[in-house]
Amino acid sequence: MSAQADGHFSSRIGFIMAAAGSAVGVGNIWGFPTQAATHGGGAFLLVYVLLIVLLGYPMLMAELMVGRHGQTNPADAMSKLGHSAKTKNIGKVIGFISIITATLICTFYSILSGWFISFAIAPVAQIANKPEIANWLTDFSVSRNFVFTLVFIALVILVIRQGVQQGIERWSKRLMPMLLLMLVGGAVYILSQPGAIEGLKVLLVPDFSMVFHTDVLVGALGQTFFSLSVGTGAMMVYGAYLHKQENLSKLTAFVTLTDTMVAFLAALMIIPAMYVAQHNGVQIFAEDGSLLNSDTLVFSVLPALFDSIGGVSQYILAIVFFVLMTIAGLTSAMSIVEVPTSYIVEKTSVTRSKATLMVGAVIAVIASVIVFNFSSLFGLIITLTTERAQPLIALGIAIFMGWVWHRNELLAEIAQQDGVNQNSLFWRIWPVYVKFVCPFLIVVIIMQLFS
Ligand code: PHE
Repeated sequence: MSAQADGHFSSRIGFIMAAAGSAVGVGNIWGFPTQAATHGGGAFLLVYVLLIVLLGYPMLMAELMVGRHGQTNPADAMSKLGHSAKTKNIGKVIGFISIITATLICTFYSILSGWFISFAIAPVAQIANKPEIANWLTDFSVSRNFVFTLVFIALVILVIRQGVQQGIERWSKRLMPMLLLMLVGGAVYILSQPGAIEGLKVLLVPDFSMVFHTDVLVGALGQTFFSLSVGTGAMMVYGAYLHKQENLSKLTAFVTLTDTMVAFLAALMIIPAMYVAQHNGVQIFAEDGSLLNSDTLVFSVLPALFDSIGGVSQYILAIVFFVLMTIAGLTSAMSIVEVPTSYIVEKTSVTRSKATLMVGAVIAVIASVIVFNFSSLFGLIITLTTERAQPLIALGIAIFMGWVWHRNELLAEIAQQDGVNQNSLFWRIWPVYVKFVCPFLIVVIIMQLFS
């Protein structure tokens, strides 16, 4: 991130780019469309948008505020909210769990981002007339997954160690609008193709009978926190680099809106594209109507979409799209790696660059184990981290902010911000809302798993 020598973001735009860079990633382009496609389209979209407003925005702000108050790693930031030895220790444990969760998230995240890298190179192999290489790059074999997972992790470590995060931010500033433009262009193009309207209906018209399905609710809850990077400590670390006078309400709103828009646009392109592909003879659904290979769905639909454009432009568009996606994955992974790294640097005498290397090595080992046991571990780790750990950590943060942190300290933290009127409805409601409503909503949804 663009931290100055004093460890703070050098500018507001620097923070916004880093936080939006953390939020926008594989979760938006792969996670959201895949979840929407598997969980009833419109019903999922409806629940997701509701949860973004009801939980995502308030909890993102809570995490940023706890991080800014702590000015340290997530374990110590959580512990600083407590005033007794017991609450301090519980806070530390929650922070620790978030550090482990972040590390585990980075493992499957690297596998997924590796897929985007290999799909960015595949068109080059096609142009060079090397069909065997192109096939290997797109065939989801263990060897391909292994190589590109390591390539992605190496890339993350390289970027962080070179201290070129500032450069990455500057790129993101230009590349993110480009990604948005491609998604809009892709959605407009695909909607003019035969079969697309059926997909549009699936995405936009909710089947209300699905809204209360456990899968839909729990899936949308996990997706909300995953997409906004909440409940892993990543936003806490970024909050720690933020000046006290920054007004969090608008910054958080911007990040939330950007993230949700990207996810929606991705679905607007990919869900109709599924139906166009099916119309063109690509098998998307099994006999019983369920999705075939949901994990790799996006990777069969997108190339089919580029294919239909034809000519040389299909290759160029595919390369640009997958390179943009790789960079979006990189800016997210950077924020995840920062969670364990910040802890090691503050707690030991290990240098920052060594700590990054150590964290990268651990992630590479665990990710490799997942690659070699893909069918049993990949989905499991995703469910465990995003649908179980992240909501529970968010619950811990809400409870700590609402019930453990002394009210006058929280109010002082709020009051330090520029242009804040403490008596405004917004700043009076938000602390109470995080104290009562957020924990209640999270518990009610999680309880569905046991009913
Ligand atoms: N929000 C990122 C995405 O949507 C993933 C992420 C999760 C990043 C947790 C940081 C922490 O791709």
